[in-house]
Amino acid sequence: MERTNINETINKIGEKIKVAGWVHNRRDHGKIIFIDLRDRSGVLQVVFADAEIAKELRNEWVIAIEGTINARPEKMVNKNIPTGTVEMQAKKLEIINKAETPPFAVDTNGYEINEELRLKYRYLDVRRERVKNNLILRHNVIQFIRNFLSDKEFLEIETPILTKSTPEGARDYVVPSRLWHKTFYALPQSPQQYKQLLMVGGIEKYFQIARCFRDENARGDRQPEFTQLDVEMSFPTQNEILDLMEKMTIEMVAKICPEKHISQIPFPRLTHKEAMEKYNSDKPDLRKDKNNKNELAFGFVIDFPAFEWKETEKRWDATHHPFTKAQNPDNLPEKEFIKHLNKNQATILAHQYDFVCNGYEIGGGSIREHNPKILQAIFELMGNKTEDVIEKFGHMLEAFSYGVPPHGGIAIGIDRLIMILNNEPSIREVIAFPKAGDGRDLMMNSPSKIDKEQLKELGIKFAEKKTKK
Ligand code: AMO
Repeated sequence: MERTNINETINKIGEKIKVAGWVHNRRDHGKIIFIDLRDRSGVLQVVFADAEIAKELRNEWVIAIEGTINARPEKMVNKNIPTGTVEMQAKKLEIINKAETPPFAVDTNGYEINEELRLKYRYLDVRRERVKNNLILRHNVIQFIRNFLSDKEFLEIETPILTKSTPEGARDYVVPSRLWHKTFYALPQSPQQYKQLLMVGGIEKYFQIARCFRDENARGDRQPEFTQLDVEMSFPTQNEILDLMEKMTIEMVAKICPEKHISQIPFPRLTHKEAMEKYNSDKPDLRKDKNNKNELAFGFVIDFPAFEWKETEKRWDATHHPFTKAQNPDNLPEKEFIKHLNKNQATILAHQYDFVCNGYEIGGGSIREHNPKILQAIFELMGNKTEDVIEKFGHMLEAFSYGVPPHGGIAIGIDRLIMILNNEPSIREVIAFPKAGDGRDLMMNSPSKIDKEQLKELGIKFAEKKTKK
């Protein structure tokens, strides 16, 4: 007999069916035993009139049961679960797999459990309804985004994971090359350069649900690897990009989280200066009532300063990334604009914006500098020598010499968005297999050593620490 999902049992009254899943809990009433059987779709009460059959069962065993679905008598209805109007009268039990006693309860919300233990046994933690619901919301949001952007003729295009460093302000993760000793791939901090090169390639409207890698210390809203909705458009105005994200977000919330309300539509657009003066933050919390868990206060912060002084490195750096277009309100011609850039680093603004929600930065983007001469001047302004610019970014400058459309885009942190939508305290709660705070994967036990053969193939030797005699 084929198995029926538990959420469908409410429509099967009087029918003999088979259900399968995990023993959620078991209540022994002597002659009768009740179990709650759990599958992904829900929980069903199963009655074993013959206690002998079910006596042995323990929590988290995997079983299949054949039996008849009955309506529960009025006073036995459980309003707390969707299948509370029915129960199964068990006829036949198959024990598929016994289970060790789990290291923690999976029928609570889990906040009370040590997080490292939860992460070590994440496959058990995922059985928890709250974690499962976070993954369901994540799926629904990504599915919505894919449909929304595809309907608007955006193409979803994958870009490489083994690549070359793209500066986004963090350290790179690097991968040694076996075929080219002493050289390394970098894992992308974002697909920034590839999406721009796709614009040179005439794609015009691109998006990707993209994995990004940044070697920085993990925090509640930061992971070494995380997911972005990455978007790029050719010939856009800044408002076109912001309007698109605004429309997508409003429709998404209405469809997927109808219980939420958005504080202000259209989303407020504050200049960076206004945000700093009024809220002393470039990611202001614009909620009207911070105790209201269903309020979403989206907004855009625009007109960021283009450059910031890095005291430790004694040089100017891009506040966003070097591909961002600096504003040129007086329409200075190229040469004069380059002079102006080199003189007024501290005050020049950029065509750069952040997307904020409830005090978090959930996205950021910019219109890009597509003039190769100005782009080169910006790289140099940031302290790169001409030959380094060619080594690091020569491919971009060359690409831009073959007819580049004006372009711009944005990337939204999917993990942060889901965290906020489900009122979770950290993005670890909305990622299936997150890293712990110290960057380790406690379940797979990584990073881990590799064997001598692998090291040899890669041409890697570790420097021995010299000990003083
Ligand atoms: P940016 O670096 O601002 O822009 O990243 C965009 C968004 O990604 C999320 N984010 C993170 N989420 C979790 N863990 C992290 N370590 C992490 N770092 C960033 C944030 C952030 O707003 N290439 C540009 C986008 C562009 O210009 O189009 C970029 O990556 O929500």
